[in-house]
Amino acid sequence: MKPDLSVKPKLVVASANPDKVADLVRLLGERFEVVARPTDAPETIEDQDTLEGNSVKKATEIAEFSGCAALADDTGLFVAALDGRPGVFSARYAGEDASYQDNVDKLLGELSGVGDEDRLAEFRTVVALILPDGSGVTGEGSVSGVITSEPVGEQGFGYDPVFAPDEGEGQTFAQMTREQKQEISHRARAFRSLEMALERAGNILG
Ligand code: IMP
Repeated sequence: MKPDLSVKPKLVVASANPDKVADLVRLLGERFEVVARPTDAPETIEDQDTLEGNSVKKATEIAEFSGCAALADDTGLFVAALDGRPGVFSARYAGEDASYQDNVDKLLGELSGVGDEDRLAEFRTVVALILPDGSGVTGEGSVSGVITSEPVGEQGFGYDPVFAPDEGEGQTFAQMTREQKQEISHRARAFRSLEMALERAGNILG
């Protein structure tokens, strides 16, 4: 019997962040039935010291809980002049309950007095797709750029207003449309890398 190609494999998204879920549906919705994280799923403690460690931990816990394939990503902004900070702590840079604005303010404060040529930074994402039996694949993506001296632009989220990618002709991510950002973003690249890893692994989603 031929497989029914109209039935997409189900993927539970480990993140509860609506910005990220919207991104994931846009990136993977054609290929997978993207399902939101179950509301009663326990919160993962992101205590690993690498993006890969945290993304695999999050996806593994949700796959075990839901009994379905699960997808989790972890992103960090690595700033050269700050020895790679905030890195894996990007979400909590200005404290446990820090807002996007708090984190941006702290970053600009730490970089005050640092010249344009020394404001190099990189966004990196690792995405993990893990099955209930614990097997799975990961993908990685990054984008290089600079931290601007002040926030510019209204789009996006997080550090977007202060990150100008090298390929962006001086614009910050927050000045780009979603489509422009998606062309070059760390997360989109990590998903393309995951898709290639999935193809290499065969159709592990059945
Ligand atoms: P997470 O691992 O995706 O939760 O990302 C950690 C932190 O990095 C988030 O709290 C955001 O502030 C920031 N971040 C992640 N992705 C992006 C992005 O695409 N643009 C700007 N900031 C981001």
